[in-house]
Amino acid sequence: MAERKIVTVFGATGAQGGGLARSLLADRDGGWSVRAVTRDESSPAARSLARAGAELVRADLDDAASVERALEGAYGAYFVTFFWAHFSPERELAEARTMADAARRAGVRHAIWSTLEDTRRWIPLDDPRMPTLMGRYKVPHFDAKGEGDQYFRDAGVPTTFLLTSFYWDNLIHFGMGPKPGADGQLEFVLPMGGAQMPGIAAEDIGRCAHGILGRGDELVGRTVGIAGEHLSGAEMAAALGRALGRPVRHADVPPEVYRGFGFPGAEDLGNMFQFYRDCERDFRAARSVEFSRELNPALQSFGQWLAANAARIPVA
Ligand SMILES: NC(=O)c1ccc[n+]([C@@H]2O[C@H](COP(=O)([O-])OP(=O)(O)OC[C@H]3O[C@@H](n4cnc5c(N)ncnc54)[C@H](OP(=O)(O)O)[C@@H]3O)[C@@H](O)[C@H]2O)c1
Repeated sequence: MAERKIVTVFGATGAQGGGLARSLLADRDGGWSVRAVTRDESSPAARSLARAGAELVRADLDDAASVERALEGAYGAYFVTFFWAHFSPERELAEARTMADAARRAGVRHAIWSTLEDTRRWIPLDDPRMPTLMGRYKVPHFDAKGEGDQYFRDAGVPTTFLLTSFYWDNLIHFGMGPKPGADGQLEFVLPMGGAQMPGIAAEDIGRCAHGILGRGDELVGRTVGIAGEHLSGAEMAAALGRALGRPVRHADVPPEVYRGFGFPGAEDLGNMFQFYRDCERDFRAARSVEFSRELNPALQSFGQWLAANAARIPVA
């Protein structure tokens, strides 16, 4: 039997990397071997991956030597950074550089970099439509990822640039689910007017990445955007109402109001939703549902995701 191709998966105990690790492990005849990166091999998520057949490797993105060790002998690698763990775009940039350098030294043949648009290409810093944040960003957690693309190019690492989409799982884990309004009716806040937002089940991101790895060199050097469905706030509210069995209305607050909500990251997310809205055509065009389904035939629509997950959305 041909030797299995090792894929080192960062974030394997989390949403994106976890989806990829589980998908590769389930593909028993695919010739893959999963090396799951964690900072804690004893966590339930790490132990569950090990039971499913993954090799666990301890590494931290902030420790370059550990990143390099995790990549030794690997054919492929999934690279993702964790903005919401620290809120620092500068740290994401440093981590992207660490990963790109380590991938070059290890001779990785196919890297997938989980990136997003550098929104400053559409909305330059002097554009008054939205405030500049942290000195040199419009949407910090997007811009730093997009800026990080260049490290992989400069290092000459064979890379697919994966443009992910809004996880529908944010309705469960990120406090973005519907909440009762002043009259008690559930409201789904999405500050995008009638614009449609590409969304995806978090688990499907890794399955699409699996599809990208499965295509060999075909998508190396390419930017690939993925989404399960593009929906407006009103369409999402209607689907939520059907799934929850009680009416949900779309609350179209203006982005400037959303920016003032005061929770950590509210300004960043307010700018992000405004970017989705104001640059809807380009943002959606970069994320083909049809191509995502070619990569991942199990790709879920919002309705399918809700059928399996609506009961987990916390609603008061
Ligand atoms: N939420 C969305 O809608 C959305 C959409 C597009 C993109 N994103 C982006 O997705 C990224 C997060 O990915 P995710 O949702 O898959 O993350 P996640 O579910 O929060 O997973 C994070 C995992 O990464 C590991 N980790 C955290 N810090 C690490 C470090 N310093 N070194 C090595 N491993 C570390 C942790 O594993 P251990 O504890 O086991 O080490 C953790 O289980 C963010 O940058 C965000 O901007 C999010």
